[in-house]
Amino acid sequence: MKRYLSIILVTLISQFSYSNELPIIEYKSIHHPVISKTGMVVSQRQIASEVGATILRNGGNAVDAAVATGLALAVVLPRAGNIGGGGFMVVYMKDLNKTIAIDYREKAPSAAHRDLFLDENGNYDKRKAQFSLLSAGVPGTVAGLHHALINYGTMSWKEVIAPAVKLAEEGFAVPHDLANILASENYKRRLTSNEAGAQSFYKENNENYAAGEMLAQRDLAWSLKQLRDFGPKAFYEGEIAKKIVKEMERNGGLISMEDLKQYKPVEREPVEGTFRDFKIVSMPPASSGGIHLIQMLNMLEEFPIKELGFGSSDTIHLMAEVMKRAYADRSKHLGDMDFYDVPFSLMDKKYAKELNKSISLQKVSPSKDILPGDPYPYESPDTTHYSVMDKFGNVVSNTYTLNFSYGSGIVIPGTGMLMNNEMDDFSSKPGVPNGYGLLGSEANSIQGNKRPLSSMTPTIIFRNDQPYLVLGSPGGSRIITTVLQVSLNVMEHEMNVAQAVNSPRIHHQWLPEVLMIEDGFSPDTVQLLEDKGYKIYPSRTMGSVQAIVKEGDYFYGAADPRRPNSGAVAP
Ligand code: GLY
Repeated sequence: MKRYLSIILVTLISQFSYSNELPIIEYKSIHHPVISKTGMVVSQRQIASEVGATILRNGGNAVDAAVATGLALAVVLPRAGNIGGGGFMVVYMKDLNKTIAIDYREKAPSAAHRDLFLDENGNYDKRKAQFSLLSAGVPGTVAGLHHALINYGTMSWKEVIAPAVKLAEEGFAVPHDLANILASENYKRRLTSNEAGAQSFYKENNENYAAGEMLAQRDLAWSLKQLRDFGPKAFYEGEIAKKIVKEMERNGGLISMEDLKQYKPVEREPVEGTFRDFKIVSMPPASSGGIHLIQMLNMLEEFPIKELGFGSSDTIHLMAEVMKRAYADRSKHLGDMDFYDVPFSLMDKKYAKELNKSISLQKVSPSKDILPGDPYPYESPDTTHYSVMDKFGNVVSNTYTLNFSYGSGIVIPGTGMLMNNEMDDFSSKPGVPNGYGLLGSEANSIQGNKRPLSSMTPTIIFRNDQPYLVLGSPGGSRIITTVLQVSLNVMEHEMNVAQAVNSPRIHHQWLPEVLMIEDGFSPDTVQLLEDKGYKIYPSRTMGSVQAIVKEGDYFYGAADPRRPNSGAVAP
């Protein structure tokens, strides 16, 4: 009897403490998020997530943590983390009950012009557009992160930059994926073609770092200390600015002292839409991400996606059909809204209904039959994302980039800073695709001081007016479709956030006319899609989503396993 009583007691106590400490997890899925009651930071590098989580633990808010994480990623994720690039941040401030979109995208130097990347025969010159200093836009990251901190953070710039300085100065253990990519022929050629790049990422005589060896970045540490001591002024007017302009003048770039001085991040109204009971809040132009995410969700809302099921050929077909229509529209209608009158009516439910009229469950619409639509009548390979939620109810969704992995591969001497090659996100010549195979038009032509069109889609999804899901992804043209699918996995397929992130993805971007499919779908499904007429392209992994769901008292974090060393870290 005594034995039974003690078993009952132990059971009761364990249930009591279980229900107090951890949410009840239903083991419906083999995928498990990281769970916490005190907040969450998810980024593409565990070590950077730990920087952010430490800030939260020390009483900072989500913006403090996001800025510290972004600066740390500039050191430990050189392929995309940056101070020489730009990006977009969507912030929800609980106290203000307001979501703010901070546009810190790079701008074209004032001397840039429409034909910048055409050679003497009028052909697109890929080397100029992607791998020269002409490819660099005026960087916005430093100004953008600083703007977020001083307006919405609680800690000082010195406090949040300190971990990045330490990581650059003392070094960090090189993870396998970084060691491999730096040793690979392509990247090594690109990064060692300038002396400053060789110095930053290789040992003496261009010898590779092995995984596990410490990589300290002396020049980058100098830049970060300049920023720590003199703030963004060091970058836009001071010693860093002088080094940038000196290199531009030496090597044929266009960025001038005046361009740097004039650079300002912009607060914009985020774009908003709904999907069933959820409210979607995302980035407006100069990103195309938010508009097309909402446009595609509007179209899909009309179909019984939940019943058709995740990964069925019908669901994949419908997703491909809406993707094609959205990307056709993107090619014509999207550009920097400060220069071009972007039709926000692309997000109208009525426009989605109109587009859906040409979608059939039985038949594939050939891309040649899909032209960019006319939304006006309805007036009514590399980037990184991280997500932060704090215990005060604030949320940050941040995507920033150098464009390609390691940008143009050019490091500004003395700064350790890789330059972006974001100018290739402009449409250099109508009908000629950019580095992501994307087409564009007048809306996205090159002009001085204009922001090149982006696909970055930092997003916050609300349920019952509370932030519910925060997410975003790298992946160039595949960013928007990646965010779409992970959002649908949570909202429509009711997956937990880890399963939603891990599940296989597809991508269609209208042109080229192929359906890209990750490994992991059933061969039967793929066969059905082929039978329907799809040209299937088995793709490498797409995107790297860092997401958090907040449900009840708990934060559920999921770092995408597609990229090694990502991490969800609780404070
Ligand atoms: N550079 C990729 C993008 O902004 O979409």
